[in-house]
Amino acid sequence: MNDEKEVIREVITFVKQAMQEHESGHGWSHIERVVRMALHIRESEGCGDRLTVELGALLHDVGDHKFRAHDGPAEIRKLLGRLGVGNKVTDEVVSINENISFSKGKRPDSGSIAFRIVQDADRLDAIGAIGIARAFSYGGFRGNEIYDPHIKITDPPLLAGASTKSVSTIHHFYDKLLLLRDLMNTPTGRRLAEERHDYMVKYLEQFFTEWNPGNDL
Ligand code: ADP
Ligand code: NI
Repeated sequence: MNDEKEVIREVITFVKQAMQEHESGHGWSHIERVVRMALHIRESEGCGDRLTVELGALLHDVGDHKFRAHDGPAEIRKLLGRLGVGNKVTDEVVSINENISFSKGKRPDSGSIAFRIVQDADRLDAIGAIGIARAFSYGGFRGNEIYDPHIKITDPPLLAGASTKSVSTIHHFYDKLLLLRDLMNTPTGRRLAEERHDYMVKYLEQFFTEWNPGNDL
């Protein structure tokens, strides 16, 4: 295999090039945050192969709609094969890419430790202050309302997995974002998710207070 640092450098170049900047919540900065967070969780948990975690985080969204490359696993195998990365690491990185998303997400008790770490890092980026910003950015990009008061939040109860179909961005909190805390895999992820979850709950309270003036008087 090429030198690990060289491999990472090449993969960063590939990811930056492959990514189409559709809107800010989807850009390279999301990948950078997920990499930083995944490495932080790995340090804090004291387990998980570093190269697998870093490559898994860098390549987790390849093949997603925001990338030019649409067959994630094939692209990843081609790239890592060219860089001489071993089969074990490559297989794990491909498995992370295939299984990470919310809708096809594995249950918390499944998957390798690297998978569990990268999935936590990706989910943490969807909640808290950054998650709120990303949600409104994505909602705006889709032309969604910030909130539609005619559709009851609990009706239908929870559209888990149908996240992109949320009728408004505020509905998306109930369809997906508020569910993520309980899906975290690692103790570090759970601790960080708790803080970010509470922040979103406060945000929603304030949002509805402002939406319904006088209700709290
Ligand atoms: P990721 O990049 O983490 O794999 P997605 O591509 O599914 O996540 O979504 C990107 C961001 O947009 C996430 O923060 C997600 O919560 C948010 N998002 C997805 N669908 C909606 C929606 N219908 N309304 C608002 N935000 C959304
Ligand atoms: Ni992602």
